[in-house]
Order: sequence, then C-alpha cells, then structure tokens
Amino acid sequence: MSRDAPTGIDGATAPAVLRLGRAPLVGRQRELAALEQALAEARLGRPTLALLAGEPGIGKSRLLEEFPPSGQSGDSIVLRGGATQSEGMPPYLPLLEALGEYIALAPPDDLRRGLGADAAVLARLLPEIASRLRESFEPPHAIPPEQERLRLYEVVAGLLSHIAGARGSLILALDDLQWADAATCELLLYVMPRLAARAAPVLVVTACRDDETSENVPLERLISELNRRRLLLHVTLRRLDSLESRQLAAALLHGDLAEDVSSIVHDQGEGNPFFEEELLRALVDERRLVYRDGRWHFDGVNRRVLPRGIIDAVRVRLARLPAEAVEALRVAAVVGRRHQVRVVAAVLERDPEVVEDLVLAGVGAGFLRPDSDGGYAFVHDKVREAVLVELGGERRRRLHLAIGNALQAEEVTPRLLPDLAYHFVQAGDRQRGVDYALATGEAALTSYAAADALRQFCAALELLSNARDVPRRVGVLLRIGQAATHIGDYREAATRYQAAAAEATRQAKVILLRARGTGSAACAGARRTSRERVLPSSGRSSSSDQERRAKWPRRCSN
Ligand SMILES: Nc1ncnc2c1ncn2[C@@H]1O[C@H](COP(=O)(O)OP(=O)(O)O)[C@@H](O)[C@H]1O
Ligand SMILES: [Mg+2]
Repeated sequence: MSRDAPTGIDGATAPAVLRLGRAPLVGRQRELAALEQALAEARLGRPTLALLAGEPGIGKSRLLEEFPPSGQSGDSIVLRGGATQSEGMPPYLPLLEALGEYIALAPPDDLRRGLGADAAVLARLLPEIASRLRESFEPPHAIPPEQERLRLYEVVAGLLSHIAGARGSLILALDDLQWADAATCELLLYVMPRLAARAAPVLVVTACRDDETSENVPLERLISELNRRRLLLHVTLRRLDSLESRQLAAALLHGDLAEDVSSIVHDQGEGNPFFEEELLRALVDERRLVYRDGRWHFDGVNRRVLPRGIIDAVRVRLARLPAEAVEALRVAAVVGRRHQVRVVAAVLERDPEVVEDLVLAGVGAGFLRPDSDGGYAFVHDKVREAVLVELGGERRRRLHLAIGNALQAEEVTPRLLPDLAYHFVQAGDRQRGVDYALATGEAALTSYAAADALRQFCAALELLSNARDVPRRVGVLLRIGQAATHIGDYREAATRYQAAAAEATRQAKVILLRARGTGSAACAGARRTSRERVLPSSGRSSSSDQERRAKWPRRCSN
C-alpha cells in the first residue's frame, strides 16, 4: 500500500480535479489461477468454457480484460467480443466482434485456409471476409434450414480450431454473456463439443451476471449442457475483503487512507469495486477528504450520509455535472452503451463540437470513456442505468424517435438495421418500427438466427396490435410461423398460422359483406334509375310497374 504523499496536495482538501483513474488489479489471485489452469488444460487439447460469474460491478469485465496477465499470454492469440443490453444487437454479435478482429489481422491465405470450402457461409454474416480476401462469394447452395445452421456452426468450429492450431492456442474472451442472443448461445453449445472432439487448444472465457441468467433461456441451456458435458468451469467472483478494498481505494487516491475512511468505503460499498470507486469519486467531488500526515482523512466529522446503492452513488455525482452535459449523457444513454457524438448532436440539434465538449465533461467525470471506433461508451452499464432513471416514458419515446431519425439520415447498412428496428420499435413508430423489425428479422433468418428473427417479428406484431391493417398483421403472423418452424417449435408455428388463417378469414368475410353492401347499393341505385326511366314522373305506379318490380332479380334485393 502506498504511503507516499500524493504530490502537491499534502495538507489540502481533496480537490475535485483529483482524477481517480484506474487502479491496478487488486486481489483475484484465486480466479486468475483457475483461468491459468484452464488455459494449460486447453493447450493440452482439452478446451473449456470458463464462466466468470458475479453481480454487476464486481469486476468480471476487468478480470476478462486482465487475462492472460501481461507477459503470460505465451503463444496464445486473444480475440475479444461482447453482447450489449440495449441497442439493437445483430445475431452472433459477441462472436462476430471476436472473429472480426481476427479477419482484420489475418494474412488472407491463412484466413482462406481457416474458412475451408464453405467460406461463403460465414461471409454472409461477416462481409469483411469478402473484402479481406478480395473475392465475391456466390450465396451458399441452399439446403434445409436446420442443415444450413449446422453448416455455419461447422465453419465456425473449423475456423476456431484453425486459428488455435496455427497460433498455438486461442483465448476467446466474450463479455456480458447474460445479454447474449439465442444464436450465440446455440452456436457455442454446438461448437464447444466439436472443439473438444478435435482436441483444439481453445479456452473460451466469458463474463456473466449471475442474477440475470435465468431471464435468458438459451443461455441457461448452454450453461447446464456444457456443465453436464464437463466443458464448463464456473468461477464466481466474490466481493473484495477489507484489505483489498483498502488497497483499491489507496491506489485510486494515490495515497493511504485513515482507518475510518477505509472502513466506511468498504462497509458502504460492500466490497463491490465499482460501488467503492463511485463512493470515493463522490467523496472527492464533494471535497470531503483531506490529506494529512500521509493519509486521507475525512474533512471534519463525517456526519453526512453516503449513497446507499450503486445507482444512488452515480446519481449523486451526476447532479454535480452541468445540466447540458447531463442532457447530452441522457441522449447518449438512450442511444445505447456506445454512441457517436454526431448522433447525439443531431438529436440535440446542436453543433457537434459543442456536444463533443459536453461528452468530454462526462469523460472527465468518469462516466464515459473513448471507444475504439471514434465514439464514446459508458464506463459501466450501471452508469447508463443511473442516467436513464429519471427519464420518463414519453420523453424516452421521443428520444428514440429522434435517434431513429438521426440514424436513418446516415447510410443505412445491414449492420444498422437492428439499431433502426430497436429505436423505431421503442418509439412506437408503427410504420418504420414494423418495416425495420421485419427487415432485421429477415436478415436474421438468412443468418440462421431464427430465434432472433422470431423476436423481431413478434416486436412487429406487437406494434400492429391495435392496427386495422389486417393484411400486414397476417403477413407478420406468417413470418412468425416461418421463424418458429425454423426453430423447430411446430406448436408455436401452428398457433401462428392458425391465427393468420383466422384473421384472413375474418377479413375475407368483412370484404365480402362490404362487397355485398356496395353491390346492393349499386343495385338499389340501378333500380332507382331504371324506375325513374319506366315510371311516370307523377310517381304513381301502375299495376304493370308493380309486376315489373316484383320480377327484379332476387340476388340484388337484399
Ligand atoms: N480487482 C479489481 N481491482 C481493481 N479494480 C477493479 C477490480 N475489479 C473491478 N475493478 C474496477 O471496478 C469497476 C467495475 O468493474 P467491472 O469489471 O466493469 O465490473 P463488472 O463487469 O463485474 O460489472 C471498473 O472500473 C474496474 O476497473
Ligand atoms: Mg462488465
């Protein structure tokens, strides 16, 4: 633990400009040892999926990032990807991100060998393959959907084995598995045993919130199946003990802490590193700490209450930001965990340079960090959650609409479709929400991600729940039936097809009745005209007229 005085602030109250950066990794020796052991096993041809499980903020992503520790990666190649919670997520995103990293770096010949004869199958999901290989692929030859899916899985298994074999070993690090889509979970479930059968030196390390897995049925199945097959290593991240909490705080404050400060941060922060970091940031922002005699102390008697939860702690700090910076953060939070300044600026209808400054204020306060693609990302989903807490439903809906419009104004690529679907569906925009959800669903079907397609088609149906547009509803019900058939959920498919048939029949009856109504009105009109032609203008009818009327064709009389 550092006993050095933080330079320039001895005897001074903690200035708000004391930036709490990133502490070196504290503790986690046990977890790292378990991962190292799993990697050693993988290198001997026994692949495993390691699941780093724990509550939000406990340090799963950080551990994933820190593994393998620098200098110990040996001959491993590490590929990283992750799922996201909010913004439209294309199927297989975590794997596509990880494989995308490889495709960007791999020599084309090596990539071609790794993909084998069925390169076109994966190229459909990853267009960068075609550009990297400077080839245009014909669509793969059509086979039944279930076989198409397995063909894709085989290509991925083959590619992962190839990468691992060529490089010595492969570490596939996938974050936020609790939000993984069904396609990702199903693919992993197929690929892990295939890798084991090939004795491929692969270690898949994933991070997952353990309180949210039960909401993701395909993920639960993945975990229990891999466990049953002895291909799973479950590593639970425990909370920091008081010594580790103290080490963390001292590293963040660049100096040791008095006993009471350290124990309050640990007790209140409950050994959760993210919560403890936020508490310390709040104490620094409010200048409640003073550096004296080589330690941080409370400035005066510590009577003020500290926030009681992660979200509260973040909100206390948010309140100190200028209102317009908070507003920019709100828009960014509705965009998603990751966002581009130009989109936020378009929604706020402000100059992007001004908005960039506001965003940088968020970076300075430790809410955002620069992202790899030139945009920004929330440092943690709990920060995003805290920013969204006070945003009412109606305002959120309007923001989704404005974001959808801003995204639509850009070039609409296939990768953008899930985002557009997400924002327009959330906005309740019936026309565009349905259009984009259907387009996204169709794209998911051609990527063999039928469960994701089903989700999109159901979102479209939901938007049409009170709509009179029966043909559209029937069309969507048929697509749901199709997606359910692809998954093999024939009961669901039958229910949807029957619903489509029932709606279509009802609609047919309505059309028939209307047609009859129009028909009888036409007949009545025709009758009147001919009556006027045959009847004397006095309006009095002769007996022969009555006879003629009685002979009027019956089908036109009702
Ligand atoms: N063992 C640790 N040592 C130092 N800092 C940590 C540790 N674990 C987590 N942190 C920090 O705590 C914050 C939250 O960690 P993170 O890995 O994002 O949590 P999770 O992914 O479990 O929600 C991050 O700023 C991270 O750097
Ligand atoms: Mg995380």
